[in-house]
Amino acid sequence: MPVHDRGSFENLYAGQPRWEIGRPQKALLDVTDRITGSVLDAGCGTGENTLFFASRGQRVTGIDFLAEPITLAKRKAAERGLTATFLVMDALALKELPEVFDNAIDSGLFHVFSDDDRRRYVEGLASVLRPGGRLFLLCFSDAEPGDQGPRRVARKEIEDAFAQSWVVESIEPSRYEVRPDPNDSSYKDGGPRACFVVAKKAV
Ligand SMILES: C[S@@+](CC[C@H](N)C(=O)[O-])C[C@H]1O[C@@H](n2cnc3c(N)ncnc32)[C@H](O)[C@@H]1O
Repeated sequence: MPVHDRGSFENLYAGQPRWEIGRPQKALLDVTDRITGSVLDAGCGTGENTLFFASRGQRVTGIDFLAEPITLAKRKAAERGLTATFLVMDALALKELPEVFDNAIDSGLFHVFSDDDRRRYVEGLASVLRPGGRLFLLCFSDAEPGDQGPRRVARKEIEDAFAQSWVVESIEPSRYEVRPDPNDSSYKDGGPRACFVVAKKAV
């Protein structure tokens, strides 16, 4: 099932989305030493990844096109005494964001876009990253069987998407951690098979 429009995400947030694991994604934790300086979290959801970088004292902005997860993210920040900026904003309008970041993270957003929106999104990312800034991106990979959830992304698609204005530094097999669901056995232990991408904006 393709999952990419507002309505689909509103429905998922009305329940308990599988990606709401209550902690940052391990794939990002594994590279924290490489993520220094300011961070944009595109499609931040309720902000676990954003708040992790905020807890390290980094300037962090999380954006999501739905108000509900942003409200929850702001509440978590207040409860944890953390400073982060959370904005209701469409990631396809990143060019309108009047800020430039050292890093961008994307945990589970890229893979929701159509081909056209993917192009627009990647252009927007380039506009908010400083030259030499890096994108750390976790998306479903084509090694994940079935078609439930978001699009599976092949290595070649990633290379093509970042062919201009970027240097793709690595594309590694990874996992997108999800909540266990006794009623849904679609994803194996460890979560759906994913790609972890590091791409540098050309200088
Ligand atoms: C799979 S969830 C991942 C949430 C979070 N990054 C995480 O890993 O827990 C994808 C998120 O992207 C948001 N999203 C989807 N399309 C978007 C868009 N065009 N602009 C901004 N956010 C979007 C959804 O509302 C949802 O919160």
